[in-house]
Amino acid sequence: MMPASQHNRESLNSKVALVTGSAKRLGRAVALRLAQEGVDIIIHYRKSRAEAAEAVAEVEKLGRRAIAITADLGNVSEIKWLFDETSKQFGRLDILVNSAANFLSASMDSTTEEIWDASVDTNLKAPFFCAQAAAPLLRRTNGTIINFADTGGLLGWPGYIAHSVSKAGVVMLTKVLAKALAPEVRVNAIAPGTITMTGDPPEWEAGFRKLAPLGRSGTPSDITDAVVFLALSKFITGQTLVVDGGSTL
Ligand SMILES: NC(=O)c1ccc[n+]([C@@H]2O[C@H](COP(=O)([O-])OP(=O)(O)OC[C@H]3O[C@@H](n4cnc5c(N)ncnc54)[C@H](OP(=O)(O)O)[C@@H]3O)[C@@H](O)[C@H]2O)c1
Repeated sequence: MMPASQHNRESLNSKVALVTGSAKRLGRAVALRLAQEGVDIIIHYRKSRAEAAEAVAEVEKLGRRAIAITADLGNVSEIKWLFDETSKQFGRLDILVNSAANFLSASMDSTTEEIWDASVDTNLKAPFFCAQAAAPLLRRTNGTIINFADTGGLLGWPGYIAHSVSKAGVVMLTKVLAKALAPEVRVNAIAPGTITMTGDPPEWEAGFRKLAPLGRSGTPSDITDAVVFLALSKFITGQTLVVDGGSTL
C-alpha cells in the first residue's frame, strides 16, 4: 500500500511549465529542475536569445520537450501573444513561474519616473498580466502559479525603493490571485534572500555570511527545491515562502 505521506503527492511528470526570464540565472535553474522532474518547458526570454537556445538544448538533454519564445513583458499584447503561442504549441499549461524581473538600484533622491515605471511594470504588472493570460489554460489543468518576490519586498531597502515596492506588490498579488483563481489554480510566491550565482562578486558572499543565521548565501538549488515543493503542495495557496537562510529574522 502507498505510504500515507504519498497520498497527496502527485508527480510533475509530463506537465508543461512556462518560466519567464529563463534563458539564464535562476530562471534557467528553475526550468532545468522542472525538466528533471519530467516537465516540458517553455523558455521565455527577452534579449538573451543565445542563452535561451542553450537552455532549450539542456532541457532536451534531460529528455523533455522545450521551445524558446521571446516577449517583452513590459508590453501586455506581447504577453498575450506568449500565452497564445504556448497554447498553440503545447495545447496545455500546468505551471507558470513568474521569474523575470529587473533589479534597479535607486534611493530617495535618485529614483526617477523612468526607474519607478520600469520596476513596477516588469516586476509587478507583468506577473499580473501573465497570470491573466495563463488563467484559462491553468484552470483547465488545475495548474499553479509561482511568483518571485524578494526579501526587499518584505524589509524595504532604501537604496532600492521602487524595487522593494514592486516586490511587496508581488506578495499581495500572490494573495489576491490565490483568491481570484481558487479553487482551480493555486498561487504562491518565493521570496529569496541573496542567491549566489556563478560569476557574482565574492564580496557579496562575505557580506551575506555575517547577516544570515545559517551562515551562507543561497544556491540556485535552494530555490528550485522550493519551486518543486510549492508545485506539489496541494493545500498551500496565497503564501510567500521566504528562502533566505534566516536573514530576515
Ligand atoms: N538572484 C537573486 O539573488 C535574487 C534574490 C531575490 C529575488 N530574486 C528574484 O528571483 C527572480 C530571478 O532572479 P534572477 O537574478 O535570475 O533574475 P535576473 O537575472 O535579474 O532576470 C531574469 C531575466 O528577466 C528577464 N527580463 C527582465 N526584464 C524583462 C522584460 N521587460 N521582459 C521580458 N523579460 C525580462 C531578462 O531576460 P533577457 O536576459 O532575455 O532579456 C533576464 O534574463 C527575479 O524575480 C528576482 O527578483 C533573485
